[in-house]
Amino acid sequence: MSDEHGPRVSTGIPGLDEMLQGGLIRSRPYVVSGTTGSGKTTLAIQYLHNGVKNGERSLLVAIDEPPAEIRENMRALGWDIGKIRILDAHPAARQYSKRVSLVEVAAQRSVATLREAGPSEKTDQLKKAAPDISIQSLQLMLKQELQETRYSRVVIDSLTSLKKLSETMEDTNSSVMSLLRFLSESNVTTLIVTDLPDPTVLEPEIFICRGEIRLHKRMVGSRLDRWVTVEKFRGSSHDIMPRSMTITEKGITVDHKKKIPRASLKVLQAFTQFAR
Ligand SMILES: Nc1ncnc2c1ncn2[C@@H]1O[C@H](COP(=O)(O)OP(=O)(O)OP(=O)(O)O)[C@@H](O)[C@H]1O
Ligand SMILES: [Mg+2]
Repeated sequence: MSDEHGPRVSTGIPGLDEMLQGGLIRSRPYVVSGTTGSGKTTLAIQYLHNGVKNGERSLLVAIDEPPAEIRENMRALGWDIGKIRILDAHPAARQYSKRVSLVEVAAQRSVATLREAGPSEKTDQLKKAAPDISIQSLQLMLKQELQETRYSRVVIDSLTSLKKLSETMEDTNSSVMSLLRFLSESNVTTLIVTDLPDPTVLEPEIFICRGEIRLHKRMVGSRLDRWVTVEKFRGSSHDIMPRSMTITEKGITVDHKKKIPRASLKVLQAFTQFAR
């Protein structure tokens, strides 16, 4: 589908594109939020996989899980994600790996820059204790990657973990804003994976990102039900109903046509902002 924004970017999730009036608007950053196990990583990798299937370049910044584990999980879904470039920013991997990753190189650079700026003794101590990844260093590293390769799809999984790893090193809010500005100027369509946002806190990624796709999961009776909602989508109309979502051995599919049953809707309303 094409409109005043040009051709839409398919998410690769059957049914979700229909909820988004054809797909995402190109070159913009979006949040994919949800509780643990709601399917965020699966959705994000299905999106990257859809890109490489169409000859686009896809980049995954892996912070929550080691790349080997991601590859293994995706093989179980029958996806060959060999063509997806994975940047390993998983803390355990960095701790034990002898090979210095690009992320570490960039992190060292940014820490050096911060040191030159003359931090206090206290913040210096904090930096020594903190892991060597920060939002600023990731931005530096992405800048380098995007200069070398023309990616069109990027995923950061997850910003929640990245923020936790960075919080003693920098003002995370201004770093998140800078990273999102950089990504939206870089001609890439980005999915930023986050935990379910706290409704009492306005996180910068939630108001800066051009849209938010939220994944929900709850027990209904004796069954685990999954739904997806489009919480916001700047510049486009979108489905305002929650839709049922399934994860099978082939990945995620969304039933965009069917109204969800009243019992499921009640459960969903009881636990989410949807109630308001
Ligand atoms: N092959 C499969 N068949 C059916 N369901 C699957 C399959 N693979 C994964 N799942 C479901 O997807 C869930 C995990 O999804 P995923 O790892 O994408 O969640 P997540 O939101 O990224 O979680 P976290 O916040 O812990 O990172 C599993 O808990 C499982 O219920
Ligand atoms: Mg995940």
